[in-house]
Amino acid sequence: MATASKLRTVIVTGGAGYIGSHVVYCLVKTRQYKVISIDNGHNSFPEALARVSQLAREEQASETKPADLSEEDWLETNNIVIKDGDITEKEVVRALFEEQGGKGKVWGVIHIAAWKAVGESTEIPLTYYHNNASATIQLLQTMNEYDCKRFVYSSSATVYGIPPKVPIPETSPLGALSPYGKTKVMCEMIVEDLCTAQPEWKALSLRYFNPAGAHPSGRFGEDPKGTPLNLLPILGQMAVGRLPPTLNVMGNDYPTADGTCVRDYLHVMDLASGHVLALNKLVEDHSDIFPDKKKQYKQYNLGTGKGESVLEIVEAMRKATGFDYKLEIGPRRAGDVPALIADPALAQKELGFHTTKNLVEMCHDLWNWQSQNPNGFEGSA
Ligand code: WQD
Repeated sequence: MATASKLRTVIVTGGAGYIGSHVVYCLVKTRQYKVISIDNGHNSFPEALARVSQLAREEQASETKPADLSEEDWLETNNIVIKDGDITEKEVVRALFEEQGGKGKVWGVIHIAAWKAVGESTEIPLTYYHNNASATIQLLQTMNEYDCKRFVYSSSATVYGIPPKVPIPETSPLGALSPYGKTKVMCEMIVEDLCTAQPEWKALSLRYFNPAGAHPSGRFGEDPKGTPLNLLPILGQMAVGRLPPTLNVMGNDYPTADGTCVRDYLHVMDLASGHVLALNKLVEDHSDIFPDKKKQYKQYNLGTGKGESVLEIVEAMRKATGFDYKLEIGPRRAGDVPALIADPALAQKELGFHTTKNLVEMCHDLWNWQSQNPNGFEGSA
């Protein structure tokens, strides 16, 4: 008779996306989880997870199977369950839990799926409230129904709006300016209230600063659908000729050293590792981070604690790619704030989170991915 699996089953929403695929890779590499990804393909490609699974399978040859893990479980860790579906549809989410055997079979959820373009959110706010807020409520309701009460939420530094000071601690007042940012604030509050009403829940909100780069293998990375809106993928696509070579610098009259906006760019692999650390804190009874058993909920910044300006990023990418970027100075972009830099002390102290890769490695890995995949995943065979 087959022995019961020792793997913890985790659902990752948005698992095929840029952040999601790197999080799934890091979960698989712990060899402790059975990973299920649900993704509607709005800003992702199934090919990303096919590559994650293939790479993890290849790398497993040089790993040592833990003595307490069955051969079946050991191999099962590479078998990512890739589901194409929209979490705004309740039956799609219920089916995920039913397929795992119903109540109590799914150990936890990492919720990454969301629409995330600040500017776009001001044009179609209802779509953002539907996809980000309503979908999260529905997901949490379904988790309750299936007795799944461990939750890691993908939040964002945009919840801080214009911070009173940088680096920004988690205690900084929230003040999102865009509908996108407001959905992140809203969802944090929803999760906190749920954990207050139902103290058996354990949840963490991870406030991402600016993720960038790609897996060092170059097998998967950031491949936004349509025209990229974020600085690093724009610079990557310029360097392979997918975009014109002139960067529109969105304002150089900010109160910063060189007049351009400063952000806290962290390597996506460091960000993804932070999710494993967060899950680890939900495994045991961690009173160190949840001293108050009446509300097992907390927020953490995931950032480096250092900032780089737009011009510094361009220079770093110029060195990584050898590409001669042209610049034109344009007007400020609505919603941009002068500087967003994390105070990462709490995550360092309580999660053991530390960024291990620097800006040079970030730009190198981005270029390694982009140069090997000039047309992203769609260009692959
Ligand atoms: C960085 C800087 C721009 C493009 C975004 C999302 C946010 C979060 C992180 C999810 C800014 C400047 C950009 C260009 C430019 N994602 N820029 N020319 O805005 O800090 O945050 O990613 O949580 O929700 O908004 O990142 O890369 O868009 O911009 O000058 O063509 O680069 O003004 O100062 P941002 P970004």
